[in-house]
Amino acid sequence: MFVGELVDRSGRVARDLRVSLTDRCNLRCSYCMPAEGLAWLPTDQTLTDDEVLRLLRVAVERLGITRIRFTGGEPLLRKGLERIVEGAAALRGASGRPELALTTNGLGLDRRSAALRAAGLDRVNVSLDSLDRERYARLARRDRLPDVLAGIAGAERAGLTPVKINSVVLRDCNEIDVVPLAEFCLARGYQLRFIEQMPLGPAGQWVRDELVTADEVLALLSERFELTPAVEPRGAAPAALWRVAPDDSQPGGVLGVIASVTQPFCAACDRTRLTADGQLRSCLFSRTETDLRGVLRSGGSDSDLASVWAESQWKKPRAHGIDEVGFTPPARTMSAIGG
Ligand code: 5AD
Ligand code: SF4
Repeated sequence: MFVGELVDRSGRVARDLRVSLTDRCNLRCSYCMPAEGLAWLPTDQTLTDDEVLRLLRVAVERLGITRIRFTGGEPLLRKGLERIVEGAAALRGASGRPELALTTNGLGLDRRSAALRAAGLDRVNVSLDSLDRERYARLARRDRLPDVLAGIAGAERAGLTPVKINSVVLRDCNEIDVVPLAEFCLARGYQLRFIEQMPLGPAGQWVRDELVTADEVLALLSERFELTPAVEPRGAAPAALWRVAPDDSQPGGVLGVIASVTQPFCAACDRTRLTADGQLRSCLFSRTETDLRGVLRSGGSDSDLASVWAESQWKKPRAHGIDEVGFTPPARTMSAIGG
């Protein structure tokens, strides 16, 4: 029987599983998807709820996974989400129950938060790139800002806290939103993270020199706030945290910048990923995938699933190499991999 840990040849141990529950989305963020959407996965290739739960059990009971994050696409579009969360919350590994989080665009979250909380979800990360309705609509290609704000408020009410907000900053687009987003989150006690745009969107759309870097975001924030590095140990968390001093218009707090491109944190990465169609990716930028669905559907045992997963994770790339000559982005976009 295979029981072990997800160790790779660089000595990293994966504890954090990102599982994509669908590649579909009801937004079309320009840095993620083309306006017309993508060719969605056929249903028969997507893992069923029971298949997802079986793989989660193997991950928690046999492979040392302690944190599970549900992603997409948009995971709220998955009908069985509450059931999957409930099943995941019942799992027990060596260190107890896994921590359960959800990365969502927030649409419909106000109506689902209470049930998700009851099912055992701990926290949410909501994507929000602008507080200006028009700019939001331009960026996400859908006029849905009010729904997202309702979703965030609903998550807070249901106790899916601390609410985290993810923002991607695009050049000549939403740099103007950086300070308002920070004010919004500080005032409400939400933990904001600015993420550098990665080459994971529509082919050919990402241009290195157009990247708004974490340093630039910090410079914009420093014009308005007094920032000092937060001393908390960063561990495998990708965000560098900054403490914001309170002033007349906001109570202070902590915010983060994730410099995925300019200051990669690959050396501390503790993630493994499962796509909605049951493919393992040891890294967002892996060039190869391992077909776990095939093992599952051809009658593989839990032990087989665990050993195939461990073997695949062993080959996790040392680093994403975005800045290296000859870097090629993965064939799938973020929405098809899972964020
Ligand atoms: N670069 C950085 N972040 C991205 N996201 C989606 N595409 C990209 C990209 N190309 C973010 C979303 C969401 C999370 C899942 O990843 O905004 O917050
Ligand atoms: Fe949907 Fe998230 Fe992609 Fe936006 S970034 S289109 S919300 S999957």
